[in-house]
Amino acid sequence: MVLSLRGVSKHYDTAEGPLAVLSDIDLDLAAGSSLALTGESGSGKSTLLHLAGGLDKPDHGQIVVAGQAVSEMDDRGRAAVRRGVVGLVFQQFNLIPSLDVAANLSFHARLAERSDPAWEAELADRLGLLPLMRRYPEQLSGGQQQRVAIGRTLATRPALILADEPTGNLDEANGDTVMTLMLELIAETDSALLMVTHSTRLAGRLDRQVKLTQGRIVL
Ligand SMILES: Nc1ncnc2c1ncn2[C@@H]1O[C@H](COP(=O)(O)OP(=O)(O)OP(=O)(O)O)[C@@H](O)[C@H]1O
Ligand SMILES: [Mg+2]
Repeated sequence: MVLSLRGVSKHYDTAEGPLAVLSDIDLDLAAGSSLALTGESGSGKSTLLHLAGGLDKPDHGQIVVAGQAVSEMDDRGRAAVRRGVVGLVFQQFNLIPSLDVAANLSFHARLAERSDPAWEAELADRLGLLPLMRRYPEQLSGGQQQRVAIGRTLATRPALILADEPTGNLDEANGDTVMTLMLELIAETDSALLMVTHSTRLAGRLDRQVKLTQGRIVL
C-alpha cells in the first residue's frame, strides 16, 4: 500500500470548544490506483489530506506512507517524507511568482534532488506548456497555472499524489483535460492518487469513491 490509515482521529480546538473532525478512519490506497474523496463542506476532506501528507498529526491512529509511519514522526521526519514521496496539488496553485514556468516546473524536483530534465520536458509537452516556458505565473490563465502546478508535482515522480480540488478553478472542459492527463501519468508512473472533489462526474472517473460524513467514511 502507498497509503494506509488505521483508526485515525483528529479534532481541532476552537473558540467554541473541541471539534471532532475525523473519527476512527481506516483507508488504504494501492500503487497505480486512484480514490476520490467527497463530502460536504467542512466534513474533513482537507484535514484528511493534510494528515496523509504529513502536514499535521492525528490525535490517534497510524498513518503509513510508502512504508513510513508518518504518524510516529516529528516535524522534520514528516517534512522529509513529504519531500521524498508525496506530491501535493491544491486549489490555490502556489506557484513561485519570481520564477518562470520552466523554473516552477523543476523547482520541487530540484529541492528533492531528483531533477530529470527529460521527464520535465515530456511533462511540459503533454501539459501543453512548451509555448509558455518563459512566462511568469501572473502572465498565465488559471487553467495554465493549474497545469504548471500539476507538472511541478509530477516532476518529482511522487509515490503518492494528494490533490485538493485540483480542477476546482477550471471550467468543465479544462478540468476534464487535466484529469485525463493526471490519470494517464499516474498509471504510467505507478503512483497513487487521493483526490478531493465536489464533482460526482470527476469522482466517477477514479477507481474508487468514498464519502466523509460526520467524521467517518461511507462507501
Ligand atoms: N486549523 C483549524 N482550527 C480549527 N478548526 C478547523 C481548522 N481547520 C479546519 N477546521 C474545521 O474542521 C472542519 C473540517 O475542515 P476541512 O477543511 O477538513 O473541511 P473540508 O471537507 O475540506 O471542507 P471544504 O469542502 O469546504 O474544503 C471544519 O468544520 C473546519 O471549520
Ligand atoms: Mg477542503
